[in-house]
Amino acid sequence: MSSVVACRAFYSHFPSAAPPTYTFLLARVLPASFGRPFGRRSGGRRSLVMAAHNLGLTTPVNLDPLKISFAAKDADLAEWKGDVLAVGVTEQDLTKDENSKFQNPILQKLDAQLSGLLSEASSEEDFMGKAGQSVVLRLPGIGSKRVGLFGLGQSPSNIISVRSLGETVAAVAKTAQASNVAIVLASSDSLSAESKLTTASALASGAVLGVHDDNRYKSESKKPSLKSVDIIGLGNGPEIEKKLKYAENLSSGIIFGRELVNSPANVLTPAMLAQEASNIASLYKDVLSATILDAEQCKELKMGSYLGVAAASANPPHFIHLCYKPPGGTANLKLALVGKGLTFDSGGYNIKTGPGCSIELMKFDMGGSAAVLGAAKAIGQIKPPGVEVHFIVAACENMISGTGMRPGDIVTASNGKTIEVNNTDAEGRLTLADALVYACNQGVEKIVDLATLTGACIVALGPSIAGVFTPSDDLFKEVFSASESSGEKLWRMPLEESYWESMKSGVADMVNTGGRPGGAITAALFLKQFVKEGVQWMHIDMAGPVWNDKKKAATGFGVSTLVEWVLKNSSS
Ligand code: BES
Ligand code: MN
Ligand code: ZN
Repeated sequence: MSSVVACRAFYSHFPSAAPPTYTFLLARVLPASFGRPFGRRSGGRRSLVMAAHNLGLTTPVNLDPLKISFAAKDADLAEWKGDVLAVGVTEQDLTKDENSKFQNPILQKLDAQLSGLLSEASSEEDFMGKAGQSVVLRLPGIGSKRVGLFGLGQSPSNIISVRSLGETVAAVAKTAQASNVAIVLASSDSLSAESKLTTASALASGAVLGVHDDNRYKSESKKPSLKSVDIIGLGNGPEIEKKLKYAENLSSGIIFGRELVNSPANVLTPAMLAQEASNIASLYKDVLSATILDAEQCKELKMGSYLGVAAASANPPHFIHLCYKPPGGTANLKLALVGKGLTFDSGGYNIKTGPGCSIELMKFDMGGSAAVLGAAKAIGQIKPPGVEVHFIVAACENMISGTGMRPGDIVTASNGKTIEVNNTDAEGRLTLADALVYACNQGVEKIVDLATLTGACIVALGPSIAGVFTPSDDLFKEVFSASESSGEKLWRMPLEESYWESMKSGVADMVNTGGRPGGAITAALFLKQFVKEGVQWMHIDMAGPVWNDKKKAATGFGVSTLVEWVLKNSSS
């Protein structure tokens, strides 16, 4: 059997003495089997897979584990001692009276303690409390070495600005080389009990995600300095502890997803992706099981559409299926999460050329599968009751060779439908076709698929909003409300049936590409051909949000919404 490849972002949980503290442990472990052929020890023999694995001789570095502990406290700010005291403020919190003094009691008290430095600095630096703004002061001789005001915009309960507050605090801690920080919201009193809990968890996951830098492929990197985060004024006790634990599990899934996407295609081949999925299943084997199908087995299942895409690559395809069954076993609902898993998309014979085609970024074309597997990791830890979840990825690489698909070829999918491939660069839908048929065969009631499917969706919605397509208003409501809790942006797009006209073929049941107008819509209509009637289905085109251009890194988009959605469907 294969040797064990430890997961990259492995979290553990250490409750300590009162007040309860949660430690987020991020241990990245070098894959022990790295560079060996998949599923076997190398024995010194060169195989095709091994040669591909070793391309460029790159191995991700095994970095030291990073631990951040979170504690929810109701402490007095004046008594807090540490490196950075971060105060989240809304625009309204900054209102001053006629003597230029803050009206907000928390700011007023802190400002008095600092002899007015805070109000002075905030007006000098034109700090308005807008989201993303911050002002940080270095202080001599008091308990905290630095005090900072961090803008939250209009509302203290907006999940997106609260999470980004956590991220900004992490960034400040990084530059200040701080090891402990406290976060407090100036207007936490105005939050409902429920809102306090979600705020605490968004702060915690924001801080962890802000600290996380993917340095596995750098020859040198600095160790993160941040060790502990005190969350002040949002309450303490078992409820908030449970929320912090949830934030920990979710963040570990998001980081896992990000690291999968960041990994280059010479390292993260379809075989490695399958190996990573198997690792997740064995880490949480009480609830997760893995089935990995090779090309031969996919051929038996008649997955001609998927195998057509895989045909040009020296890295063989691997069809990934993880199954989550709740502890105790009984599930009254079955769900499937299907992710596009193109470890690289060259375009094939319709090769990606020209400026803006982003071929060098096409390692991120498995972002849908990263969201699905990141969610699997989080669900494996959270273990929600009453729901069975299937995680499905038809992983492969879209390359060019004499064995590859030609433009004009006709492939036959596992539901018997024939497809004239008029463009080999519209490959994602060809792989998803067979993955959706497979998902329906698991007897699931609802399917959500995620894919970096079309450039057209980026044109429509820009880089940070994903397009969603579904004939089901109910499923849309469920997933949209999950996205409101997660802070990921979704926008519903029309499944305009009349556009199917452009998908008609003279020789086969359909073509795979309908041309430029409405390109994201015709792609979704194509996917719909492979979903059994009676199954609720939604497609999420995340071509924009998968990648952060500014940070030159993966976002982990999708994990959080998927996990929220599964929890909504569980009986917890
Ligand atoms: N993976 C791409 C979509 C994509 C493009 C994602 C740019 C992120 C950034 C997909 O396989 C693709 O190539 N789609 C084509 C479809 C076209 C040929 C109908 C596209 O969008 O150009
Ligand atoms: Mn493509
Ligand atoms: Zn693609």
